Amino acid sequence: MTHMNTTHTKTQTTLVLGGTGKTGRRVAQRLAVLGRPVRVGSRAGRPRFDWQDRTTWAPALEGVAAVYVSYYPDIAVPGAVEAVGSFAELAVRSGVPRLLLLSGRGEPQAELAEQAVRASGAELTILRSSWFAQNFSEDYLLGPVLAGEVALPATDTPEPFVDADDIADVAVAALTRHGHAGQVYELTGPQPLTFAEAVGEIATATGRQIRYVPVPIDEYAAAAAAQGVPAEAVEVITYLFGEVLDGRNAGTADGVRRALRREPRDFASYARQTAASGRWGIPVASGADR
Ligand SMILES: NC(=O)c1ccc[n+]([C@@H]2O[C@H](COP(=O)([O-])OP(=O)(O)OC[C@H]3O[C@@H](n4cnc5c(N)ncnc54)[C@H](OP(=O)(O)O)[C@@H]3O)[C@@H](O)[C@H]2O)c1
Repeated sequence: MTHMNTTHTKTQTTLVLGGTGKTGRRVAQRLAVLGRPVRVGSRAGRPRFDWQDRTTWAPALEGVAAVYVSYYPDIAVPGAVEAVGSFAELAVRSGVPRLLLLSGRGEPQAELAEQAVRASGAELTILRSSWFAQNFSEDYLLGPVLAGEVALPATDTPEPFVDADDIADVAVAALTRHGHAGQVYELTGPQPLTFAEAVGEIATATGRQIRYVPVPIDEYAAAAAAQGVPAEAVEVITYLFGEVLDGRNAGTADGVRRALRREPRDFASYARQTAASGRWGIPVASGADR
């Protein structure tokens, strides 16, 4: 992203951690379109930022006014609370008090991470998000969708999938306008869907047959490991499906409406737009509505 500048004044530059990932990339793009200087914080960034290498943290914060904090791989993994808390403390000590934290909804571990960041004294906005729709097109569910069979350890618990574009819109509003510091936004889509229903929407949008197959969690973990999915990723996925997807997050929340004064985008719109983009195979002529 050559148009993203790394040398602007302290009052302007936003460090976007996970700036090449599902939400960070969208946040960085939107800020760049608005003419705001952005520094992408990732292992591929310049300067490099690595959650596992603390010597990279201070250089990444140099000359920065605000940070979008997206932890990797998951805010709920062991070590995340300490890492995001230490990073926030360093940021505030370095004169960067404005932080946004991407968090997970209904997760006690994620709330501990939120508290650790809040303890830094930062001017904090928390984006407590449900599952991203883009997991089906930009992450571990893309391969199964392309293969025509999505096998997951999820039964009929509904989840109000949120569109990463909405998360990015909220983040950019919070970074560029007043009134968002101190807010906790619970971000969901407008409608809870089971995984089977979500896959059904993708099948409809693509015109392809895509099966949804619920599998026992142990079977899922063993198959993923056998396919070479790293142990860390298998752990995160089994934690999310085995513990978090128990119905506690089935309801929708009003974070998108509160932050943006508009309704969140629904899963069917996401599916139509993604199908039209060709990401799930041959582009389909559709009435993609955005
Ligand atoms: N996915 C969901 O449905 C969901 C829902 C709610 C909350 N969340 C939260 O969102 C956060 C991000 O998850 P995600 O799934 O959206 O991932 P993601 O942002 O798509 O992850 C990829 C990003 O992380 C960067 N990255 C990978 N390893 C890194 C490292 N060691 N140090 C620094 N950056 C690293 C990658 O860049 P490089 O490879 O260049 O380093 C890339 O920018 C997590 O904390 C998760 O708990 C996710």
